[in-house]
Amino acid sequence: MEYKNLTFIIENNIAIITINRPDKMNALNFEVLDELYIATKEIYDNTEIIGAIVTGSGEKSFVAGADIHEIAALNELNGRKAAEKGQELFAYIENAPKLIIAAVNGYALGGGCELAMACHIRVAAEHAQFAQPEINIGIVPGYGGTQRMAQMIGKSKTIELMLTGDRLSAQEAYQMRLVSYVVPMAELINKCKEIINKIREKPALSIELIISCVNSAFNKDDDGYKAEANAFANCLATDDFKEGTTAFMEKRKPRFSGR
Ligand code: COA
Repeated sequence: MEYKNLTFIIENNIAIITINRPDKMNALNFEVLDELYIATKEIYDNTEIIGAIVTGSGEKSFVAGADIHEIAALNELNGRKAAEKGQELFAYIENAPKLIIAAVNGYALGGGCELAMACHIRVAAEHAQFAQPEINIGIVPGYGGTQRMAQMIGKSKTIELMLTGDRLSAQEAYQMRLVSYVVPMAELINKCKEIINKIREKPALSIELIISCVNSAFNKDDDGYKAEANAFANCLATDDFKEGTTAFMEKRKPRFSGR
């Protein structure tokens, strides 16, 4: 697949997606969103890929939001559709069966912060900044930000940040548990790879089901406990379960096959 607005490479079974509009601070225009969908589908479908990193090109901006030039031209009708489409894409990322980490290399504003929150884990460079400044252009977050941020940092801080548009430093985001690690820029991608490498040899179905069950905890339509019990039962039918338990009893390292 030829991408116009992002690069997609696979290194040692890890997909690295880099949003590449540096002259526009990597803002998410509709074409980027379409390409992100295709890239995410590749993560789902390509069995060579064990996990993915999403980042922005350069050292200044992860993603500075939705493309305000496109947003400015929306009306009530196509604006609702645009928000729904963005929400669908970010849910697709959130529900991916493989670990997706946001490597936040600078500004994560508006849709950029929402994209980072849709990923399973966020690692921030020391100079990264986070905000939902949509209020300053007379709108509200539209790609799931009001929901995911409230889940992550709680209701009152979310309301404060979204009403003021204030930015959080990487350190503040870390203290609020919005990001898991803050590292020097030079170590950002390696830190993400290190996390994915830790799960490289783990059983694929357990990874997929853990992500899905944890996501159920935040989905009002799901019974998370039921999902967990089903997932637990599903694992018992796999070769990896037999291998894991046998290896434990034989006091050796398991060799999971992904079956
Ligand atoms: N949509 C479209 N273009 C954007 C953009 C966005 N969200 N964010 C930045 N850009 C563009 C600017 O228009 C500018 O393009 P130009 O050179 O053709 O005029 C270019 O990126 C560089 O941005 P600039 O503002 O000159 O850089 P800066 O270093 O002074 O500031 C930001 C960087 C990110 C702080 C600032 O661009 C900004 O506040 N962007 C909007 C953030 C936002 O409100 N996002 C939520 C949108 S819903």
